[in-house]
Amino acid sequence: MKSSSVRILGLGAFVPEKVLTNFDLEKMVDTSDEWIRTRTGIQERHIAEPGTAASDLGAKAALEALAQANLKATQIDLIIVATATPDMTFPSTGCVIQQKIGAVCPAFDLSAACSGFVYGLSVAEAYIRSGLHKHILVIGTEITSSFIDWKDRATCVLFGDGAGAAVLGVSDKGPELLGSYLGSDGEQADILKVPAGGSALPLTSENIKEGLQYLKMSGGDVFKIAVRTMDEAIQKICQCAQITPAQIDCLIPHQANLRILQAVADRVKLPIEKVFINVERYGNMSAASTVVALYEAAKFGKLKNGQHVVLVAFGGGLTWGANIIRW
Ligand code: COA
Repeated sequence: MKSSSVRILGLGAFVPEKVLTNFDLEKMVDTSDEWIRTRTGIQERHIAEPGTAASDLGAKAALEALAQANLKATQIDLIIVATATPDMTFPSTGCVIQQKIGAVCPAFDLSAACSGFVYGLSVAEAYIRSGLHKHILVIGTEITSSFIDWKDRATCVLFGDGAGAAVLGVSDKGPELLGSYLGSDGEQADILKVPAGGSALPLTSENIKEGLQYLKMSGGDVFKIAVRTMDEAIQKICQCAQITPAQIDCLIPHQANLRILQAVADRVKLPIEKVFINVERYGNMSAASTVVALYEAAKFGKLKNGQHVVLVAFGGGLTWGANIIRW
């Protein structure tokens, strides 16, 4: 499974200061704190001020990860930015962050929606194992508030803005990335998407009037497939590391909905206490979600040396995947 040890050398996270609570949302759409909490577990989310770009959050998270790794930006060989809300169509948010942090290396964006950070770790792992790059910065950053229809109560209560970053590299100490597993199914593309703004449906005043620049979701379908595919990803990544799901010490899932996390824990027969949960404070931060959860689990002392830590995610595409780390 491995030719050289790929380690996590540093982690960082950044969320905007402004907090939007369920009570604030009660004043904006026909909803209630009780509905949002019981259906999703979310109590509040952070929302960026207008004029803030995904690269602003991502650069801040990246600088913290670099400081933790004790590396200068100029020592990074590659930047991978997972985002569904890039600063613009091009240049990539990766290039913008490269300039903001003072790195001198190739940089690109990776599009896998909420699974983006899990995909990013897998790509970084492959590059490092191949010997092509030594130090890679993987960033998940999102201004989800930019694709939300703030009049649509079915979606606007679910999402939040934020960023997280990890520096990966070859080292003989630190948490070791043992392997990754990825899946996707374009047949299900329509159940979770932002229809307009790309080459298939460029922005026009007509489709803006119809609200096609906003996220559209078939919530019930997404819920069911999220549970099934995250279960599958956990089983596959455990096979890859030759452990059983019962041997996972900490599961760090994409934080979309507390009920999804409870259903996944039930399916893999993992006590909920072994699942790291912060959805109540951030909502769904898309590609930033798993990395911010990993950052907090480490910061709060939840991860101990030698433990098996599994990241698992699901998102539009559809995409899903998992990474396993020996802490
Ligand atoms: N406040 C109050 N009522 C709301 C509401 C809100 N914010 N959003 C929807 N409702 C209403 C619906 O209109 C519906 O009303 P109706 O029965 O009169 O038609 C009712 O609540 C029930 O809706 P339903 O869709 O059955 O609720 P649910 O229990 O399935 O929960 C989600 C809805 C969206 C929370 C749930 O389906 C979900 O989390 N799906 C996954 C979404 C996700 O994670 N997406 C991102 C993946 S990366």
